[in-house]
Amino acid sequence: MYLYVLSNIKDMSHLVAPSILAADFAHLARDVDMLNKSKADRIHVDVMDGVFVPNISFGFPVIEAIKKTAQVPLDVHLMIVEPERYIERFQIVGANTLIIHIEACKHLHSTVQKIKQNGMGVGVAVNPHTAICNLKDIIRDLDQVLIMSVNPGFGGQDFIEHTFQKILKTKQLIHETQSKAQIGVDGGVDSSNAQRLLKIGANILVAGSSVFKSDNPTQAISDLKDF
Ligand code: DX5
Ligand code: ZN
Repeated sequence: MYLYVLSNIKDMSHLVAPSILAADFAHLARDVDMLNKSKADRIHVDVMDGVFVPNISFGFPVIEAIKKTAQVPLDVHLMIVEPERYIERFQIVGANTLIIHIEACKHLHSTVQKIKQNGMGVGVAVNPHTAICNLKDIIRDLDQVLIMSVNPGFGGQDFIEHTFQKILKTKQLIHETQSKAQIGVDGGVDSSNAQRLLKIGANILVAGSSVFKSDNPTQAISDLKDF
């Protein structure tokens, strides 16, 4: 079943998307500027509503502030219920890609189309309990599948090992459907698992704590990029 996967190991260069959730919010511009000068390809921006996940992060004004300094695209990860309510507003404050959760959308197809109509890239995130086969009829419309390797809501959690199998399944589904979606992995990503994630088919590494809590965040990004 995974023959294609195994014969296409590491077939393209990958992206690193540091998660700004782990930054120092009292020095946000400084931290965004550090990302500008690093090998970061994108900034991952986690929006939490306290309903879909048991935590609240930040909203439009903070994204607007990040956008003012950022020189790389913003991947905005919406951990909110009914994200279709706010698509235009996220576009206005500067999101380049909107990532919505399959578990939070009653009409996923419609919401995906609406994001595209607003000129943004579109990603769908899947929680650890959600099977990849649920993406079968939508994956061709996506730019990114974001596989949650922790239960969303908090930074600094332990990586869930089952993620590796989900990457393989996603890679296989992408092949079967001839989708152009990239595979992102979010949660507990660090230099101990990055190489294996990339080898198996991940294209985008999202990393919060392993970047911002390290002694040298610029070097930590570089390490993830140079695998
Ligand atoms: C978790 C968020 C992640 C988080 C990753 O709910 O979606 O993006 O910031 O943080 P680390 O890398 O610390 O697990
Ligand atoms: Zn995230």
